[in-house]
This record gives sequence, structure tokens and C-alpha cells, in this order.
Amino acid sequence: MTQHVVCEVDELPVGKMKAFTVAGETLVVYHLDDGFFATQASCTHLFGPLAKGKIVDGCKVQCPLHRARFDIRTGEVIDWANFPPGIQLLNAVRAQKALKTYKTSVKGNQVRVKID
Ligand code: FES
Repeated sequence: MTQHVVCEVDELPVGKMKAFTVAGETLVVYHLDDGFFATQASCTHLFGPLAKGKIVDGCKVQCPLHRARFDIRTGEVIDWANFPPGIQLLNAVRAQKALKTYKTSVKGNQVRVKID
């Protein structure tokens, strides 16, 4: 595992998220009340760009395409794709899958992410 600097603390206020490409991986860094977190950038349903979605309840990310929701801290699925009506038919072949998460740390003003 190697630590990579992804951004500066000031660049990402609390409640915001942003996509970065680091060491060949595209991930989203989130700044929540209790610190920085990171997940893979594409939704596990059909690759929706999570950074274009929104943070809800202060701790979940909602995909902009079919509204799946994931726990930002653990990557677990909270709600699977449910929009538009009928998407559930597709869900029969797109089983729920958690997001990959990355460990983060802050050193000085730098936000770092560990990547395998
Ligand atoms: S691509 Fe994210 S919910 Fe379908």
C-alpha cells in the first residue's frame, strides 16, 4: 500500500466531495463531519459517476443515475437502484455490490489516500 496525496484540506470543505485520479485509480474523496473518506468513483450498479450525485444524511452518497445509496464510510449499499420505475427488472442481473473504500489520512494540509 502506498500513500498518495489527493488534495489539500482547504480544497474540500465539509459536506463536499470531488473526484480525483491518483495512481491510475479514479476515486471520490468526501469531507464529512468526522473527516475525509474515499470510495471508488463509479457506482457498482451501472458505473454512474458518484461525484455528480449528492451526499445525503451527512454520510451517504447517492448515485445520480438510478439513485442507489451507499454508506460513504464503509461502502455498503444502503438502498439499491430504485429510479426510474422499472429499474428493478435490471437489478435482477445487477446484484447489490458495495463500493471499494480507501483509507485516508491527513498530514498538515494534505489529504492522502492509501492505494494497493
Ligand atoms: S448507475 Fe448508480 S444506481 Fe445505477
